[in-house]
Amino acid sequence: MVKKIIIFLLIVIALVVITMLNKSNNKKVKKANNRKTNTIKNEKKTPVKDVALVEERTSSKKKEVEIDPMLKAILDTVAPISVSFDQNSFRFGDKIVRAYAITQYTPHPKFGWLADIMGIPNTIVSTLYTPTSNADLMQALAKTLNVMRGTAESTRNYIEQQRVEQGIENAEETIKRLDRTGESVGRFSCIVLAFGTSKEEFQKSCSRVESKISALNLRVKILSNLQKEGFMSAFPTYTPQADVLRCSEKIITQSAMEFGMPIASSAFSDDTGCHFAEDTNGNMIILDMWKRIGDRTNSNFTVMGMPGKGKSFSVKSILLGEWMRGTRIYIIDPEREYVQMVEDEMEGEVLKVGANSKGSMINPLQIRTVSSSSKDEKNPDEEDTANLASHLKTVETFFDLYLEDITASQKALLKDMTIKAYAKYGITFESDIYHLTNNDYPVMKDIYDLIEFEITKLDMKKKRGENVSTVEYNDYVQLRGLMKDIAVGGDSFIWNGETTIHSDSKVVALDTSGFAEGNEKLKKIQYFNVLTWVWEQASQNREERCIIVADEAYMMIDQRVPTALIHMRNMAKRGRKYNVSIMTISHSVVDFLAPAIKQYGQELIGTSCYKMFFGCEGQNLLELSNLYDLKEAERDFLLGAEQGYALAQFGSKRVIVHFKVGDYKKRRISGGGEGVETKKKNTSNRDNVVWQSVNA
Ligand SMILES: Nc1ncnc2c1ncn2[C@@H]1O[C@H](COP(=O)(O)OP(=O)(O)O)[C@@H](O)[C@H]1O
Ligand SMILES: [Mg+2]
Repeated sequence: MVKKIIIFLLIVIALVVITMLNKSNNKKVKKANNRKTNTIKNEKKTPVKDVALVEERTSSKKKEVEIDPMLKAILDTVAPISVSFDQNSFRFGDKIVRAYAITQYTPHPKFGWLADIMGIPNTIVSTLYTPTSNADLMQALAKTLNVMRGTAESTRNYIEQQRVEQGIENAEETIKRLDRTGESVGRFSCIVLAFGTSKEEFQKSCSRVESKISALNLRVKILSNLQKEGFMSAFPTYTPQADVLRCSEKIITQSAMEFGMPIASSAFSDDTGCHFAEDTNGNMIILDMWKRIGDRTNSNFTVMGMPGKGKSFSVKSILLGEWMRGTRIYIIDPEREYVQMVEDEMEGEVLKVGANSKGSMINPLQIRTVSSSSKDEKNPDEEDTANLASHLKTVETFFDLYLEDITASQKALLKDMTIKAYAKYGITFESDIYHLTNNDYPVMKDIYDLIEFEITKLDMKKKRGENVSTVEYNDYVQLRGLMKDIAVGGDSFIWNGETTIHSDSKVVALDTSGFAEGNEKLKKIQYFNVLTWVWEQASQNREERCIIVADEAYMMIDQRVPTALIHMRNMAKRGRKYNVSIMTISHSVVDFLAPAIKQYGQELIGTSCYKMFFGCEGQNLLELSNLYDLKEAERDFLLGAEQGYALAQFGSKRVIVHFKVGDYKKRRISGGGEGVETKKKNTSNRDNVVWQSVNA
């Protein structure tokens, strides 16, 4: 009880002391106000130390006391000496002020436009954004369009007509864009107060506001007869004024607004997607690679740069993000760089292809969906077809690559035998192959057996004394010799057999490291074979997003027979329709631009909407620079770019980025390929440190 009384008394005493202190402070502030200097946002003045003369109660002497300038500015704004309003300006203490509203926005705002407005000296800028639904906007726009069309027809004033026509064009474009992209929109209002202490300063400030805003292609208007409402709209407590909003509120896209903000990343960012990298200021860049907006019309990536600069590493980082979003992923991994990440982090599957008897088999004779290039150009929307006729071309290419010494007449015989082999399985040019399974197709040995059968027949004819063409006989015999390796000999484990490759995993790495060691020609055929399988998997479900990564993509290029490259190019072209993204990773663009294959190579690496260029030099840099029209500063950057830094391009926008990943993520994506080496290096470094500290 006694304790409670003591606490109560303490509280009472504290309250009395606080009240007394407040009273004396109020007096000081009031006096300070009498000698005011206003500090309003953006004021262009060298900061003068605020000094107030305060009469001390105890002495009659005047003494200088410093007042926090921030506090003073707030006090001046909340309780100015005097405020009086005219039609087009108002007085606020010792300032003359004019309230403006922005009444028209451009559909293509300049990056950071709002920041530019907010940076105009001697102004206060106030903005309000209210999200609305797209449907409302479309309706409102359609109404406005009608009114404008009416005005355009009736007006005789040339300038007015021009303005209205421009307005119609903008509105139409906005409607189209919103319809296409489904972008978020909102009502946006921007009030600008321009001020000056003298008449001259005020005039200067006003003309600066008018010219700067016009230069941004926006329209600015004095809030005539609405100065008070304008002032209240820009007041720190912000009270929306219906009269002001009526003329200032305009509908703009959310991206246009964010795009203008001073806090917007100076580089690039989407509002959805995954963490991509950082820009040079350390701002996070978010990328939604599936977004179709503006000039981002596909989801393909081209990644180029010298070995060890971080190409695979950055792609792994992107893949990890996409995997978390549920994207299906196929990786052609010739250096086993992705194996660890796929197995340990993504719960995916690694399939070894074409290496030995344990590897998965892809039967080259199995008919697959391969989009032909000529069809593509004529009608890119046409469905991919899979039939014997189109597949025969693929098989012919396969034999061309494989059987270098084959003559024209032998080729014709081989084609004949191939068709017969399909016929044996009931597959003709008219067959619908969609219901067929892996074991419904002939294998290489079937062709070989047919050749042998023909030879036996001819032998028997000979025995019977019938006439047999020596040329034909020799052709068959030679053909059998050529086909032996594929069908029953040393390479038969790669080519002869039903397709056994299979995976339902969301993430599949195709370990192609065992592709015919030392035989460049075979590698390319195998690459092509794998590509056709991957494309068939990826294009099965159009709704599902899928990424196909081709690392060390130069491996598939064959200048004489660019079949694999053409197929890659076609995949990249058609990917958009199937929600498929093709990521082409290689060390040099030069490989893709050799005269014989340039028409395909350039298209493959040139048309991807996303590009990442890592450090490079010499001829490679030169070609890169020519192909993408790099600026001098960009070339300099690439010449000296450190590991993990790249010149990234999103649509037509270029930004220098840093693939900076946290340790947690680095652990997940390092490993495999060169990463293993780095890991080893790091371990030995750590050993060194321990050793040193022991000695110390
Ligand atoms: N952004 C990065 N941050 C940290 N380490 C990196 C980064 N980029 C690359 N590295 C390291 O360098 C190694 C080689 O990079 P990698 O992506 O394999 O090069 P590339 O594919 O260009 O030949 C990686 O294993 C990784 O350890
Ligand atoms: Mg690599």
